[in-house]
Amino acid sequence: MSVEGASSRRPPSFQQAENTRQKARAAGLDPDRWYAVEYARAVKKRHITEVTFWNTSIALYRGEDGVLAAVQNRCPHRQLKLSHGVVQRCHLRCAYHGWTFDRDGRLVDYSHDSFGKPLLKKRLRVYPVRVRYGLIWLFPGDPTKAEHQLLPTIPELEGDSPWAHMMMDFTWQTHHSMVIDNICDFAHAFLHRKYRPFTDAKLRHYQADERRVTLTYDTHMAQGRISGIFVDRRRVNTRSIELCYEYPYQWSDTGGKIKHWCFVLPVDLRQTRVFFVFYFDAMKIPLTPLKMPRWLQEMALRIAKPLLFRPLLAQDGMALEAEQQGYEQHWDAPPIELNPTVPLLQQLTARKWEDYLARSGAGIEQSPPQRGE
Ligand code: FES
Ligand SMILES: [Fe+2]
Repeated sequence: MSVEGASSRRPPSFQQAENTRQKARAAGLDPDRWYAVEYARAVKKRHITEVTFWNTSIALYRGEDGVLAAVQNRCPHRQLKLSHGVVQRCHLRCAYHGWTFDRDGRLVDYSHDSFGKPLLKKRLRVYPVRVRYGLIWLFPGDPTKAEHQLLPTIPELEGDSPWAHMMMDFTWQTHHSMVIDNICDFAHAFLHRKYRPFTDAKLRHYQADERRVTLTYDTHMAQGRISGIFVDRRRVNTRSIELCYEYPYQWSDTGGKIKHWCFVLPVDLRQTRVFFVFYFDAMKIPLTPLKMPRWLQEMALRIAKPLLFRPLLAQDGMALEAEQQGYEQHWDAPPIELNPTVPLLQQLTARKWEDYLARSGAGIEQSPPQRGE
């Protein structure tokens, strides 16, 4: 059944795409980077969780010694997901016949199932893992490149007096490139008219190079009823904001005092997990000029998270999921884009994916199956 005005065909693959937007909407993210995949506190000792990077399922677990490991989530015996299994000491044991693998992916025990046959030389693919800023970072690509790729650094969260901060994540049924477009394009103040995180945004400057797109808006930040009374406008310039798509991450900076990073995890063509880290050195005690002590800032953020930040970003999620559905039906409608930076964001995503495909034909599935296939 076709909907009036809608294309009955599916959106084009990366290779079939005819314009930048279509390319961006089909592109993956370069696996030879570090990706935030989970909160460190969410994977307790002896706990296994499934992480999916661009259709590749990975079993992430923490041994009894507290050390994290990540391996291919498929037992080589009968292809069960190893995330159904159990952790014993620092080993991962398959739920079915109990084959047991160490952190390096080596099969270390299958004696109960050997029928006297010599030890199989089966080995799982393993993925480098790190922990930083309370997040677990995974390197889904070529492990020999992991050492040379830097994780994002946030100096404000390090040292003796780190800034107050707050983290949040969402899983949205949308392509990762739409998330980047959304966070960098301040033309959607209407969507947030209830919370007014920014108003009257005018693009003042933008610049793109091989690795990033940077843009600055003149705008009025934090105009909402709650944020308006907490932000110290005498110390912080809230009349402009700098944003950057620093592939594959995204960040913003308001007056050097209100900042965020956004880390996207591309699950598949139409699902993205998004981690936000907000950090502040900008809050005052309401109705006074006094800077808030850090502990009070942390408390204020804990209160503001469910009241302000979560519902505000949920508005973006609603719009993005609707945009994804619209794209799947009307992907061949001519792109109408008024913000000149949006095509630059899409070009960067498409170009990096093209580079990855050109240099590597293996590892990650390149043409992910569409749901329903
Ligand atoms: S399926 Fe995993 S041990 Fe048999
Ligand atoms: Fe938004």
